[in-house]
Amino acid sequence: MKVGIIGSGGREHAICYSLYGLIEIERLYCFPGNAGTSRIAENISLNLENFNELKDFIKANKIDLIVVGPEKPLVDGIVDFLEAHNIKVFGPNKLASQLEGSKIFTKNLCKKHNIPTAKFGIFDNIDKATLFISKTEYPIVVKADGLASGKGVYICENDKEAKTAIKEIFEGKFGKAENLLIEEFLKGEEMSYFIITDGKTIKKFETAQDHKRALEGDMGKNTGGMGAYSPSRLINKELDKKIMSKIIEPTIKGLREIGTNYKGFLYVGLMIVKNEPYLIEYNVRMGDPECQTILPKLKSNLLEIFLACCNEKLNEVSIKWKNKKSLCIVLCSKGYPDEFKTNVLINNINQIKLNKDEYCYHAGTTKNKEQVYSNGGRVLSFAFLSESFSDARIRIINSINTLNWENGFYRKDIGFKVIDE
Ligand code: AMP
Ligand code: GLY
Repeated sequence: MKVGIIGSGGREHAICYSLYGLIEIERLYCFPGNAGTSRIAENISLNLENFNELKDFIKANKIDLIVVGPEKPLVDGIVDFLEAHNIKVFGPNKLASQLEGSKIFTKNLCKKHNIPTAKFGIFDNIDKATLFISKTEYPIVVKADGLASGKGVYICENDKEAKTAIKEIFEGKFGKAENLLIEEFLKGEEMSYFIITDGKTIKKFETAQDHKRALEGDMGKNTGGMGAYSPSRLINKELDKKIMSKIIEPTIKGLREIGTNYKGFLYVGLMIVKNEPYLIEYNVRMGDPECQTILPKLKSNLLEIFLACCNEKLNEVSIKWKNKKSLCIVLCSKGYPDEFKTNVLINNINQIKLNKDEYCYHAGTTKNKEQVYSNGGRVLSFAFLSESFSDARIRIINSINTLNWENGFYRKDIGFKVIDE
């Protein structure tokens, strides 16, 4: 079977790696992939905004299944487009992808189905939003409606910050804004909960916790994610049940009621307050680096899971996990998430020796004459399994030290809430 993966990050390298070597796999393609995927798949560079170009390649090369990694093509309707050309695709369609593409869509769904989430208001102009905040208590959260690469959320401590947020959003900092969202601030601990569904059967795809801030102690700017660990320390049977019955099941059912089936991974961003789950956001894909953290624990055949999902037969597969802890540290280019150098040689990459249950996934890397260079902010993610988070972290840091890449930086404190220092 020939499988193509869309995306170029650590998440996509992890998906590619989990498929690589399966007996059913004849060939893997990555669109466009990175230096890591180039070792196990054929990297294809084409204009991903042009779905026709992609479709022609898929048809010409008789690719049997496409797996979509990032949210942008999903929200842009790549699944609808490829399926209309009889191509099998793993991922939600355009309407279902509104769960990530529009925060207001999700909030309205929550309201309709009584899904626990922060109280909210939707405002369609600066004056109404400003009047509202003049009467509110702080902190509050101001959010842009659409995709904003994790940047359209402002936690505001006072009037001045809230006014700036409102102004920036309506001035189009995150694209044309007809509305914005103002939310109650929820005080609790965050958890990411993943499921996979074919729209009928929902299966858990583990929990994780990522560290979004650039600096140790969860300080500094927001990033795509500097590291993660799985499982989350918060999960327990009772909470698990509540997340499924109060949040996920009504969401999938609610989508069916508006005439669509959710197919793919769903990333459920939660705030846990006294063992009660509140939905913060949905992402219509796996997280990055949560995917790199979770996939090494998977014992089952990932291709079978993808195919069962596409064929609406997810009830027929069982998803089994290794009973181990997983920790992932992302090695970034110095300066990230602001300016950083690209095209810096990673000269010792072949010195890294990985044992069983140790993975080094590439993200922002590119290959030139057998040498690996950086070409992004997040460059490599190291995900190791162990009996303890602490042991995994120590071994990862040893590997990063072996690499000794002078342009890199990373957080040494990933998992600090689950590791006694
Ligand atoms: P989002 O993109 O909606 O996940 O928001 C980004 C981050 O902002 C989340 O991971 C939370 O840390 C924080 N956040 C968003 N909404 C809220 C809220 N209502 N209360 C507290 N923190 C929030
Ligand atoms: N790690 C956060 C995300 O993938 O959105």
